[in-house]
Amino acid sequence: MEMSDKSNDYSQVIENDRNHVWHHLTQHKKYESGDPMMIIEGKGMRVWDATGKQYLDATSGGVWTVNVGYGRTEIADAIRDQLVKLNFFVNTMGSIPGANFASALIEKMPGMSRVFLSSSGSEANEKAYKMIRQIAHAKYGGKKHKILFRDRDYHGTTITALSSTGQEQRKAQFGPFTPGFVQVPHCLEYRSQWGQCEDYGLRAAQAIEEIILAEGPDTVGGLVLEPVTAGGGVITPPKGYWAEVQAICKRHDILLHIDEVVCGLGRTGKWFGYQHYDIKPDIVTMAKGVASGYAAISCTVTTEEVFEHFKQTPDDNMSLFRDISTFGGCNAGPAAALENLRIIERDGLLANATVMGKYLMKKLIKLQEKHSIIGDVRGLGLFCGLELVMDRDTKDPASESFTQAIVADCMAQGVLIGATSRSFDKFNNTLCLAPALICTKEDLDEIVAAIDTALGRAS
Ligand SMILES: Cc1ncc(COP(=O)(O)O)c(C=O)c1O
Repeated sequence: MEMSDKSNDYSQVIENDRNHVWHHLTQHKKYESGDPMMIIEGKGMRVWDATGKQYLDATSGGVWTVNVGYGRTEIADAIRDQLVKLNFFVNTMGSIPGANFASALIEKMPGMSRVFLSSSGSEANEKAYKMIRQIAHAKYGGKKHKILFRDRDYHGTTITALSSTGQEQRKAQFGPFTPGFVQVPHCLEYRSQWGQCEDYGLRAAQAIEEIILAEGPDTVGGLVLEPVTAGGGVITPPKGYWAEVQAICKRHDILLHIDEVVCGLGRTGKWFGYQHYDIKPDIVTMAKGVASGYAAISCTVTTEEVFEHFKQTPDDNMSLFRDISTFGGCNAGPAAALENLRIIERDGLLANATVMGKYLMKKLIKLQEKHSIIGDVRGLGLFCGLELVMDRDTKDPASESFTQAIVADCMAQGVLIGATSRSFDKFNNTLCLAPALICTKEDLDEIVAAIDTALGRAS
């Protein structure tokens, strides 16, 4: 596969970037002596940088977003057609793409009913927290306002989203945080907090209930969890965990909010990660894969029961959900999302994610047999993690610099992989793979071969 225009000279663009762009999560000193890397073009599973070098992308755009792959003209056409008709109107009014997308999305989410649009995952989570808080005020005089979140989960970049994030380095230097957010233990059995457990899933869920009882169930209104913890180290929930979590929420009248910002729309082989575990959430948030990065759109989806809280008392002008997001009225988002959803369905990408995910997992387990530095292999569908350790017995985590060196070696080989980074004091040691849902066995062979080579060179 070729880049469409190899003749372009990007030196001025690189200079403009170096002089004026502030990159995310980046220390810029290095650009005084080297060029910032620029990704110029993408097609299918591949992207090209400004030098014309091609990469096989196992990260779906770096942060698990471009689920249907690059260069989808159908999505671009749908966005263009919508924008020339009507680009924007505030979401207090309805729109054609908004209504049609909401209806198509809800079809994929039995038990759910209403879609609130905004433009980022952090924002979608903030909406959920505001809903839980407003319900606490309306129903419980404000007392049941606390929201529980889990160690190692990430819920976004704003101060309140960080207040509900269990990653110490992500949070460092940004406090003080929003009050009323309480951490519960993670559910990574490989790093068990309770030694050898006969039923770790049950134990990890019970740990949540212990916190609820300590805080007082009448003070806890919500629990937010990722279905599979993503940036916290690709943590798949242990057996029995979710059934108990659901029962605990029911027992204590706590709203269950699932953050599907990463798993949402196909990444794990089902439309949503929670659909693997027979859970009935009250609120589901999503962003990245909703429109595969072709437009900025996020959704806070609720049951009709949650929605009902906000219309029960029409004479009270404080009873409605008093929230607005300007760009929730951008029609590019739902137009792109509707087409993205159609592509996933038409091209059988859920099935492909399942089949390819199993193939990838098998290959990674083989790789683990070969390289003792791979302590644990985890994953679901096309989202997999390799936790690197210096010693399999002590499970002493590999350093962030070692882990990043593997990522850099793969990049030099023309394969983009990810890793947990600057999230934890000790555990920035998991390689993350999240290729687009269109990937083939040949793509996965190439990705695993690059990691194999990199690990071989490093140890
Ligand atoms: C699970 C999860 N929730 C929320 C977010 C925040 O999304 P955004 O960066 O769109 O605000 C992320 C981002 O990586 C995420 O991984």
